[in-house]
This record gives sequence, structure tokens and C-alpha cells, in this order.
Amino acid sequence: MTSFPHKHLLGIETLTAEDLTTILDLGERFGEIASRPIKKVPTLRGKTVINLFLEPSTRTRTSFEIAAKRLSADAVNISGSTSSTVKGETLLDTVANLDAMQPDIVVIRHGQAGAAAMVAAHIKASVVNAGDGAHEHPTQALLDCSTIRAHKGKIAGLTVAICGDITHSRVARSDIHALTKLGATVRLAGPRTLLPLGIEAMGATAFDRIEPALEGADVIIMLRIQKERFGTPLFPNTREYSRYFGLNARRLELAAKDAIVMHPGPINRGVELDPALADGPRAVILDQVSRGVAIRMAVLYLLGGGTPEPL
Ligand code: CP
Repeated sequence: MTSFPHKHLLGIETLTAEDLTTILDLGERFGEIASRPIKKVPTLRGKTVINLFLEPSTRTRTSFEIAAKRLSADAVNISGSTSSTVKGETLLDTVANLDAMQPDIVVIRHGQAGAAAMVAAHIKASVVNAGDGAHEHPTQALLDCSTIRAHKGKIAGLTVAICGDITHSRVARSDIHALTKLGATVRLAGPRTLLPLGIEAMGATAFDRIEPALEGADVIIMLRIQKERFGTPLFPNTREYSRYFGLNARRLELAAKDAIVMHPGPINRGVELDPALADGPRAVILDQVSRGVAIRMAVLYLLGGGTPEPL
């Protein structure tokens, strides 16, 4: 039997390829539950999951809640605007108070890199990082790998192009860690102002034009420009950005004939991605979202005390 020797999921960087495969395999098994008339198993009955989201989220927060409920755990949601953090309470005081209510797992999204690790060091519950600043978003990388594996049958040997605002992207960082550990070749593309110096030390090749990154790629992951994370504009305007770095039908022809188009969401249609491609047959963007529930079930299950042999 495979083991999962971690109390928390704070990032992909510290996981092994075996850990990743354990979660992906388990996610595939949990995915089947969504097609049942009653989408629920009793596996985490009696466990409590707190979703503490101190940054906006549609997909991640909802899918962690659905994942917890499908496993019969009690899910409690707290958002930034409704928590006492708006009254000046520190993050550590907030989580110490939540921990005093004996949750089993705290899922946290926060604007500061390292916030999830800091919380994990101070509370008894297991902690899942649901995105910490521009650092990591591990469950997004896992659901991306799950989607790639499902559509391509493998990850090792594939070429994956990640295009857009690499500098501010926790998704890019977690994807690079996950995909390289699982044997893919990763290319990055973006304007120089959105391509951090030294990023190639993570094992990816960086391009300041999108075309060479797309050449023959099996998978294309487009990223949103995260304007909320920078003040001074880092490119002239969105029209010019779209012209030079947006994915359209003409540029998609540079990739492999069966290349799939991915996006973690939210999409800024017409900026990084042509709406016709976002809704077209090569896009697997909504499949990513569906798989996110199953992957988060796998993560909650493993951290909530389950073994990798669940059903
Ligand atoms: N991909 C992602 O993290 O989306 P949300 O911000 O909506 O959770």
C-alpha cells in the first residue's frame, strides 16, 4: 500500500513524484463519485473542515466545500469580508481561535506568500494551502496534472507551455514543480516584465515571445495578468498584450495538432485567450474545474486520516 507521509499540503515543492501520483490516482477514484445519483461517501464523517479564504475565489473555495461535503465532513466557510480580520485581528489570532474549535483541516487562501506555512506552524489542525500570494497553489497544479493525464494518457515526455504573467503566478510555480517532477518539459512565455529573473532555475525554459514556447507543445496553459498584484503597469495596454501574447487560432496552429488548451481561471476573455478558443473543442478548462473537486477530495481524505485505499 502507498503511504502519504504529510500532515499538511503547503506546496508541491516538498512533495515527491510518488506523493503526486498517490493524490492523482486517488483523485481518479474519487472522480467517479460525481456520477452517482447520491454523490456522497461516509469516509470523513465526523471531521470538520474550515475554509478560510482571505482573498477572492470562485473555483477553489467552492470545490473544497463540495469535496468536504461529498466525503461527509462538516464544512465551514469563512471569507475575508465576514471574518474579524477586518476588525484588526491578526491572522495568527484568527487561526488560533478557529483551532480552538478543534477542526481537523484548515484550508487557507491568503495574499501573502508563506501564510499557509506560518499557520501550519501554529495550529494543531492539518493545513491546506489554497493559494498564498505568488508562491504556490498546490491543488491547482494537482488538478492540472490530473487533467493532462486524463487527456494525454501520461505526463512524462510531454511539452507544456505556460504563457502569461509568470511573475505573479502561484499556479505557474506549482505547475512547474509538479510537471517537472512527473517528467514533463516545461516552457514559460511572457513579456520580460512578467518573467522573473532566475525562473529557469526551477527547471523550465523561458521565452520572451509566445511563438517559440508554443512550437510543438502538447499542452498550453494560459494565465491571467494579475493586475491586483502590481501597481505600476508592466506593459503598455491590454490590446497590445493580447496582440503579442494572447492565444488565438493562428498561434494555436504552432502547437501539436492535438494540443489541449488549459486555464486555471478566472479567464480575461479576449486578453490572454481568444473567446472562440476558450469555448472551442481543444479547451479542457471546465474539465479542470470538475477534476478539481475530485483532487480536493483526495487531499482532504489523505490529510483527514484516510489511507490511499478508500472505497
Ligand atoms: N484557479 C483558481 O484558483 O480560481 P479561483 O481564484 O476562482 O479559486
